[in-house]
Amino acid sequence: MRRKLVAGNWKMYTTPEKAAALAKGIAEYVGQATDPQVIVFPPFTSLSSALIAVKGTAVAVGAQNMHWEDEGAFTGEVSGKMLLTLGCSYVILGHSERRQLFFETDMLVNQKLKKALSQNLSPIVCVGETLDQRDAGETMNVVQSQLLGSLDGVPADELRRTVIAYEPVWAIGTGRTASPHQAEQVHGYIRTVLRERYGAIVDDVLILYGGSVKPDNARELFGQPNIDGGLVGGASLTAESFNKIIAAARQ
Ligand code: 13P
Repeated sequence: MRRKLVAGNWKMYTTPEKAAALAKGIAEYVGQATDPQVIVFPPFTSLSSALIAVKGTAVAVGAQNMHWEDEGAFTGEVSGKMLLTLGCSYVILGHSERRQLFFETDMLVNQKLKKALSQNLSPIVCVGETLDQRDAGETMNVVQSQLLGSLDGVPADELRRTVIAYEPVWAIGTGRTASPHQAEQVHGYIRTVLRERYGAIVDDVLILYGGSVKPDNARELFGQPNIDGGLVGGASLTAESFNKIIAAARQ
């Protein structure tokens, strides 16, 4: 059985002080518990304080993005190697905000993914359709092409360490959640697409749902057969609501 995972994407929120307090509030609740696995993703400037705050607990810390080279003349960028050295174990790649606002393509996500995997950083690769694409009946095509493009050339043993997040763009920050049925349809499809390429190991791959996950809808979403947890934005910014979502993922 796949272990559930609950991840908090703090986006461009929290000062180092606020991040420490938030991480502490989550770490005190989680303690040594590993069901579900809990990861927080602060902005780069708050990674250190969050890492200190969760030390000695089962909560892991990751970054929201990384560059595909180890170092170089890339003003404003942070490499996976730097994140690893700091103590991060995860990285989010290809979030829809990066795809839409910073023009990240599947090819770029793929480059970053291969680098992250080669460094033993565990990636969470995001895919998801816009409202226009959904209305045009293109959801499955869009998700399939993002998935296969992002994972191009990634071998099966590395897929095992890769987490997929399905985040319909129209559900992010809008308060409009995909219904458990809508989400499960896409999650099931993602698993089918991956199975065609990778075979049975796909049963071990975690597929998270993201898009207005809240304490009051988490349990039903996480109860779907192919939804292995959540990538939570807004509701991960207070320990009170995030801890309730963690509780909803306990099996
Ligand atoms: P919200 O939970 O605020 O909709 O954000 C989802 C998200 O983008 C997580 O990566």
